[in-house]
Amino acid sequence: MINIYVEDFSGNRQHLEIPTEINLNLMEVLKASEYPVQGTCGGMALCATCHVEVLSGSEQLNPPQDQELDMLDTLPELTDNSRLACQIPIQENIDGIIVKVLTE
Ligand code: FES
Repeated sequence: MINIYVEDFSGNRQHLEIPTEINLNLMEVLKASEYPVQGTCGGMALCATCHVEVLSGSEQLNPPQDQELDMLDTLPELTDNSRLACQIPIQENIDGIIVKVLTE
């Protein structure tokens, strides 16, 4: 199992346990867990509605590709730890990360 910790807009933190073998990305997992993540473009790095802030463990993640960086650059609320959740595959390297959902 992969363990991640998700903080909502109000600061409530929840532990999620995700089976290693599912072929999903973090946006899909957040949506399935009923976080207010729209994922309008379906995970193509084109809408930025899956913007999250990685509070801990960003160095564990695969670095963002150009398309993700370009989309992040359009966000007024960009932080150093901003990522698009749809560009974070659920893989063992993300075990233990803490992410904050930035939408209410
Ligand atoms: S779902 Fe559109 S950028 Fe992630």
